Amino acid sequence: MDKMVIEGGNPLQGKIQVGGAKNAALPIIAACLLAEGWHRLYNVPHLRDVETLKGIMSKLGVEFRRDGNALEINSSNLRDYNAPYELVKTMRASIVLLGPLLARYGKARISLPGGCAIGERPVNLHLKALSAMGVEMWLDHGYINAHADRLKGVDIFFDIPTVTGTENIMMAAVMAEGETTLRNVAREPEIQDLADMLRHMGAKIEGDGTDTIVIQGVTDLRPARHTIIPDRIESGTFMIAAAMTRGEVEIEGCCPKHLGALMERLESAGTKLDITPNGILVKGPDVIKSVDVKTTPFPGFPTDLQAQFMTLMCISKGWSTITETVFENRFIHVSELKRMGAEIEINGNRALVRGKEQLFSAPVMATDLRASASLILAGLVAKGGKTEVHRIYHLDRGYEALEKKFEALGATIWREKV
Ligand code: UD1
Repeated sequence: MDKMVIEGGNPLQGKIQVGGAKNAALPIIAACLLAEGWHRLYNVPHLRDVETLKGIMSKLGVEFRRDGNALEINSSNLRDYNAPYELVKTMRASIVLLGPLLARYGKARISLPGGCAIGERPVNLHLKALSAMGVEMWLDHGYINAHADRLKGVDIFFDIPTVTGTENIMMAAVMAEGETTLRNVAREPEIQDLADMLRHMGAKIEGDGTDTIVIQGVTDLRPARHTIIPDRIESGTFMIAAAMTRGEVEIEGCCPKHLGALMERLESAGTKLDITPNGILVKGPDVIKSVDVKTTPFPGFPTDLQAQFMTLMCISKGWSTITETVFENRFIHVSELKRMGAEIEINGNRALVRGKEQLFSAPVMATDLRASASLILAGLVAKGGKTEVHRIYHLDRGYEALEKKFEALGATIWREKV
């Protein structure tokens, strides 16, 4: 198991190139199940979650060819419909295989994802929508078994806008009989990227990016070429790191229109942001001002940047309130940040942060993907020696070569085997 070691104090300077979005790549790779032949995806990040999905799909009979950041995928020779517990338990997003497997093969058997560090995270809304589309489902030994002769188009209202739920049902609906209307859906950029991929494959989809998506079922789809959008969470993590270290960093290849809520909060905290031809130039402030943040679905402030932004507030001047409305238990990083000298009080879904002049190095434990990133950021500004972040396998799920990118910006950071 690796750990990350950081000697804090260096302002980050220079340029970094953002990779493809993990949360777009995963459903788009799953969408390749929908049509036989070789698909070619560009800007696919090298991440553990991508490898996990490839592992499950390889078991189903899907072939993969990697060529740098491009990934070729062929699902012509499918031989299995079973996504096993051993792999699904390491990545909840494996549930996005359910929709495409049902659409193309009329059956699937997928391990029911359990809870995770940040909350219970049920998939009831995925299952309710599939059931409305005519899918028969039963649970046995922790597995969802699903069967449908042909999915039928329906009008579905999601009680909560769910990201992977919307994606799953979009993929189920593209080859359903008739029209499917999905209401109160998630509006995240990754949903639009999936819709673009599906349109390249010949699907008829309208309304993605709004709260209502309408899909006309077609009988056949074809293999496609598609470029994955830049990762807005990786971009945001680097923007916050630049602000925290009072550095000056150009985030190249990012998409400013996906980052509106973060940019507004960073500017309110005193950070200078300039849109450049290549991305966003971030200049950290001398004094970081305290600002409040409330996470909400897109276009609101992303829950996946909450932990990182809280770390910024830990060294701000004054008090700030961070309110988490998307997941019920996403303050798991707080006790680790406190070990580094942060002053944070949790009250329900609200954290009250009292900014301190500095954080101090300490050994800390990563608990989930984005919490791990927040501890690395804390390490970048911590005084008094080395910060060691343990269990960084969480980090490798969603950040590609993070330490190399920080090192190139002047940070003193390295990975060690434990
Ligand atoms: C996705 C992202 C994750 C991000 C999250 C919220 C991927 C692979 N992961 O996760 O990084 O943090 O969106 O932006 O894209 N819910 C239910 N029932 C359901 C489904 C969801 O109650 O059937 C609830 C969840 O518990 C949560 C809320 O809805 O409270 C939103 O979750 P959802 O959008 O589904 O998150 P994920 O798709 O799992």
